[in-house]
Amino acid sequence: MDSLTRTLPASWYCSSPLYQLERRAVFMKAWYLLGPVTRFSVVGEKVGYEIAQVSLSVLRVSKDPRDIKVFNESTHQEITSYLTETGLLFSTISEEAPSFDEFYADLKPLINTVDFTKRPHRRSIKYEGRFNWKTMVDGYQECLHCQYTHPSFSVFYPPTFYSVFNHKNFSQHIADPKKPDDGLFLYFFPNCTLNVYGGGMSSFRVCPTEKPGITRMEFDYYHMETGEKFEEYFKFVRQVAMEDFELCEKAQENLERGIYAEGILNPDKETGVAFYQQRVLDLVCEQHDAETSRHDSHSPESGNDRNIVASQLVDPASSLFLSAKDFTYAMAPFAETPILSFYRHSPIEVSKEADLLDGWWTSDYLYSLERRAIFSKTWICITHRSRFTKPGDYISLELAGFPILIILGKDHVVRAFHNVCRHRAYTVTKKPHGSSLVLGCRYHGWSYDTKGSLVKAPQFDGIEGFNKSENGLFKIKTCTDRAGFVHINLDAGDYTHVPELEDLLGFANDHGIGPKNSWLLGWESVGAFNWKTVGASDRTGIGTEGPSAMGASIMEHIIFMFRRAPINLGSSKTLYLAPSTMLFAFPKANIWVSCTILPVSATQCTLKCDVFTMKTAIIEDADVEALKIFITTHIHALEQHFDELKDVRPTDEPSLLPYLKAHLKLERLAGREIFPGRKEEGRSESFCKAEKICKELDQLAAAGAGVTSGAGGLEW
Ligand code: FES
Repeated sequence: MDSLTRTLPASWYCSSPLYQLERRAVFMKAWYLLGPVTRFSVVGEKVGYEIAQVSLSVLRVSKDPRDIKVFNESTHQEITSYLTETGLLFSTISEEAPSFDEFYADLKPLINTVDFTKRPHRRSIKYEGRFNWKTMVDGYQECLHCQYTHPSFSVFYPPTFYSVFNHKNFSQHIADPKKPDDGLFLYFFPNCTLNVYGGGMSSFRVCPTEKPGITRMEFDYYHMETGEKFEEYFKFVRQVAMEDFELCEKAQENLERGIYAEGILNPDKETGVAFYQQRVLDLVCEQHDAETSRHDSHSPESGNDRNIVASQLVDPASSLFLSAKDFTYAMAPFAETPILSFYRHSPIEVSKEADLLDGWWTSDYLYSLERRAIFSKTWICITHRSRFTKPGDYISLELAGFPILIILGKDHVVRAFHNVCRHRAYTVTKKPHGSSLVLGCRYHGWSYDTKGSLVKAPQFDGIEGFNKSENGLFKIKTCTDRAGFVHINLDAGDYTHVPELEDLLGFANDHGIGPKNSWLLGWESVGAFNWKTVGASDRTGIGTEGPSAMGASIMEHIIFMFRRAPINLGSSKTLYLAPSTMLFAFPKANIWVSCTILPVSATQCTLKCDVFTMKTAIIEDADVEALKIFITTHIHALEQHFDELKDVRPTDEPSLLPYLKAHLKLERLAGREIFPGRKEEGRSESFCKAEKICKELDQLAAAGAGVTSGAGGLEW
């Protein structure tokens, strides 16, 4: 394990209970930049704020521009604020914050260099984004990404010289150390910024909502000029803001997928990120320890009511915390980290089969379990060798929320990888298909070859302890069978299980399907149905177990449609490959179609259709249209069938159920969700510590809430 600084665990970007602890540990004890006095130019007008679920209002009391008060909107009490000599207003949100001078011990000399009373307020905007507050602060606290994401910004501020200097609870960004007076760029821990340059000034707050994956961005813009000059400035800064917004949403998506766990920070260029993340980690751990010992000291020797205490944890106002002593421990797969496993007198029960069946067709909880128990462990026939012609040809897709990249190597081997950059979780390629021997991540320029090896990591060359060979894309088990079908299995464990191919190879043999076929075209369609509808035989909802010629009523209906309307293609032969692939062969037309159902949610799927030919046939436009119409008809049939099934509880045991139950059992033993696609070894010490806290909180909150899953849940 190298000694490089790592990011906070991905779980810290996704957990509600963890955010509530952050709120108590970080937000209630901090100061916030509300703006320069010019933001409060109208006497008697209130300007509203909401920071960490505390509503504030700022009131300009008299003509004296320094006569400003800040109130808590709930209590109507004035709260502690501070107006700097040069006109910047800061506020607390609770009495737990230290004094301004203690919090920002060395800030004054810096902000006293600018007269903030000279830039009138011009515009404010706010909107929500689908990312955690830290995902945005991560981006602000470094400029490694600027040359890749903000080319217009990089022209003025080349990242080569860009440096971040960390102080007590704030960071100063200096674009060119030779010109320290060229603008003032400040980050105020935990979530405010100030950016002064030219005649303009902007300030934004990264406001967490109660949902860890949703953040409200609030921007205030100031400028000496009005009209065209201001609009030009505004256009420029908005472009940069929207570029950051896209980065954050994409990275957050991947942080929530369960594959990426932590990243590496550049010790020279990402010191700002390391600095603020360490502050968050320290404060959260400190709060966690304090709450744990407070609970211990108040806890009776016996008769602890865990559920009551745990339920208080869900309440944002609560500061109680359960002691780790209330639990016994089991070893996690990353063995150095004991993680919470069983309650001593466990209220944890793996949900009963009946519970799972209640939500069989529509439960989000069940879909989430299927992602881990089925799609992360099963061989899936995902494409065909003839989809790729030359080295570097690739496709990307999302299988049950797992972003996947499949690419043909220079050695003519097809390989699959998680389409998630190892650095800070941005998506490596966003194109559905393309051709390139090197794929570059647009966030900070890490680039990977066709074997998934990291070949370029800008600004990381020569960094002691950084090893490119340890930072390639996460591999997905891939095999290409002798008929050319490409199978993937996301399970990252070491096992020798291989896909069952007998029926598939028989089908391929019967219809002349082989690796030397040619791909003709492909498209994707969306359908409003649960993925299991494809394998549903009837209203009992029993799914098929493996590759088979379908006897299922829905499939018979679909197959019938294909046969009944041969268009120019002749009748079709069909094979269903569990869990979600269908093959249609049209021998008369020398073509075949693979149709892979890619679940998007409990009630929505994408159908990825590819048409191949056994010969060098050219498909007529009319046939393409006819195929598309029939696939659309197919989707409508599935949607119709889903409508009939969705409120029906399966009457017999579906074949998937034992797999789901077995996975739940494993999770119960581990005391946490298990993502088989995630490699768990080689974690840093601080990762393990942080991850342990998060998992404890998640489990306690789930126990306190009494099952989060709705129909068919697992009671932790
Ligand atoms: S996330 Fe930084 S290079 Fe990909």
